Amino acid sequence: MELYLDTANLEEIREIALWGVLSGATTNPTLVAKEFAARGERLTWDGLRSHLATLCELVGGPVSAEVTALEAEAMVAEGRRLAAIHPQIVVKLPTTEEGLRACKRLSAEGIKVNMTLIFSANQALLAARAGAAYLSPFLGRVDDISWDGGELLREIVEIREVQDLPVRVIAASIRHPRHVTEAALLGADIATMPYGVFKALLKHPLTDLGLKRFMEDWDKVKP
Ligand code: E4P
Repeated sequence: MELYLDTANLEEIREIALWGVLSGATTNPTLVAKEFAARGERLTWDGLRSHLATLCELVGGPVSAEVTALEAEAMVAEGRRLAAIHPQIVVKLPTTEEGLRACKRLSAEGIKVNMTLIFSANQALLAARAGAAYLSPFLGRVDDISWDGGELLREIVEIREVQDLPVRVIAASIRHPRHVTEAALLGADIATMPYGVFKALLKHPLTDLGLKRFMEDWDKVKP
């Protein structure tokens, strides 16, 4: 399972990319808006283009950028514009009727599409049939309403297998490290997670304690 950062923050990407385990990134309008607001910058098309291009260079893998248009025609136009920014851009579309129509058209043009806001196995099936390259079921938001995000992912991965669908499944809306383990066990192709969760994957108190003891013992005898 590949590991993606779910962020539009360049510093977070820069830091995690150094670990050598980052395969891609996903963004959404909320994450981009948060980033520009934090920098006190007004969001312009030129600003967004240069931000996404830098993000792609830092990640060195696929970067999902979401359209904000709600009608198919406008989604297609915006998707083409986003895809033209960098060859690594994957166009993210909402799983709506308009989104499906736009997905079909952009995919037919060879533009990779990530269908987002997936909350049911049937939405995933429709998105795959529309030619999506990636499906993004939202585990955390399903868990938030006391349903089972893991079960949703399990069904989607199984449908992908038994139907032999040429689509990659991204476990999205990851809230904690256990979600990542669960996604890996369930056969997700990718897990996309916030910076804090990525950092938490590595942390273990026994690793810190073990290393401290090794160094203390070594210090006692080292020349
Ligand atoms: C996925 O691509 C989305 O950007 C993201 O995972 C949403 O997560 P959230 O539910 O934490 O906002």
